[in-house]
Amino acid sequence: MVRSRSEVGRAGGPAPRRTALVVGATGIAGEPLLRHLVGREDWFAYGLSRRPPTAGGALPGDSVRHIQVDLADPRATGAALAGLAEVTHVFYCGYQEHSDPTEHRRVNAAMFRNLLDAVEPAAQGLRRIVLLQGMKYYGCHLGPFKTPAEEDDPPVTTPHFYYDQQAELIRRQRGKGWTWAAARPHSICGPSVGGPMNIVATIAAYATVRKAMGLPLSFPGKPGAYKARRQVTDAAMLARAMAWMATAPECANQAFNIANGDVISWQQVWPLFAGYFDMRPGEPRRRSLARTMGNKGRLWDRLVRTHGLEPYSLDRLAAWSYGDALFGSDWDILSDTAKCRAFGFREVVDSGRMFLRLFDGLRAAGVIP
Ligand SMILES: NC(=O)c1ccc[n+]([C@@H]2O[C@H](COP(=O)([O-])OP(=O)(O)OC[C@H]3O[C@@H](n4cnc5c(N)ncnc54)[C@H](OP(=O)(O)O)[C@@H]3O)[C@@H](O)[C@H]2O)c1
Repeated sequence: MVRSRSEVGRAGGPAPRRTALVVGATGIAGEPLLRHLVGREDWFAYGLSRRPPTAGGALPGDSVRHIQVDLADPRATGAALAGLAEVTHVFYCGYQEHSDPTEHRRVNAAMFRNLLDAVEPAAQGLRRIVLLQGMKYYGCHLGPFKTPAEEDDPPVTTPHFYYDQQAELIRRQRGKGWTWAAARPHSICGPSVGGPMNIVATIAAYATVRKAMGLPLSFPGKPGAYKARRQVTDAAMLARAMAWMATAPECANQAFNIANGDVISWQQVWPLFAGYFDMRPGEPRRRSLARTMGNKGRLWDRLVRTHGLEPYSLDRLAAWSYGDALFGSDWDILSDTAKCRAFGFREVVDSGRMFLRLFDGLRAAGVIP
């Protein structure tokens, strides 16, 4: 049931109840965020995506309502959100992959603009919009860059939709009653299946296929990428960080790097992965995952039948191109997380243990044997 804002926040009454709109409800970041919010007394949440949320089981029905709409369609978006007067906080975790860089930027900027065009006039009590960005803000995908990256570092000259979205937010916020915040994680690691940037499921699928072929778990990237220092971000922790930055007054109009808090290299965690999957580690050897794994669909289908797994295709499960990009980056990818800690978010996650917990989750869900 959706409660009205007038029901909450009275002196001596229940804790203020906020109403979230989580855009990207089926995504690697959005789904855990939705799950985090609906588990809390003080939130009611709407989820938004084109597909209904299904991964990880049903969400509690009285605390969440799903809006199925294509944000690329401004008219449909306006109609779908017109009645959402209750929304106090928007979390934007929407993202659409596109192979053409110009189209990629255009589509993602347009989706965000269409969302704002629809939600701003509808949600009269809007208090904050939290935008999910990432380390590409600092150009981490382009080559070596200044590390650790700090929130105030200047944008790189290569265009990116992060800059378009942030500029749109800053422009619209002037003179309004709401404020914004932005989260900048790197390599979001969550329990979800699918998605164009899902490294946990990609590693799990790679290990499972290699094991079935009797091969060791060799690192498929550049030797320099094996050793380079990097961070990852636990999706559950990111959800808590985004809820924090949506409500803490001091986070208004601020961006925050969000990472687990430890620094890892693939060299450090790869033997852990080999141990988990009961495989020999193998020497690092550069090979394109898209090319060498992209043709293992039939082998995977056999594994699904043999082990009674959930019927995901290998293509849906693994993001081979993303793996190729990540394992091909032979430079440090590090952000400074001092700012979020100074502002009050001090959680730390052990990244090695996080990977094993997430593999456990995939196994328990019948996604991998
Ligand atoms: N994944 C990472 O490791 C990572 C790391 C750092 C930063 N980021 C950033 O985080 C943001 C979210 O990425 P993600 O990896 O979470 O993406 P994701 O897993 O693919 O999730 C994207 C979400 O957007 C929804 N969506 C896509 N197109 C839509 C449309 N036209 N209308 C409505 N909903 C739509 C998708 O649901 P439907 O397909 O059902 O519509 C899905 O729920 C991006 O800006 C990305 O750059 C990601």
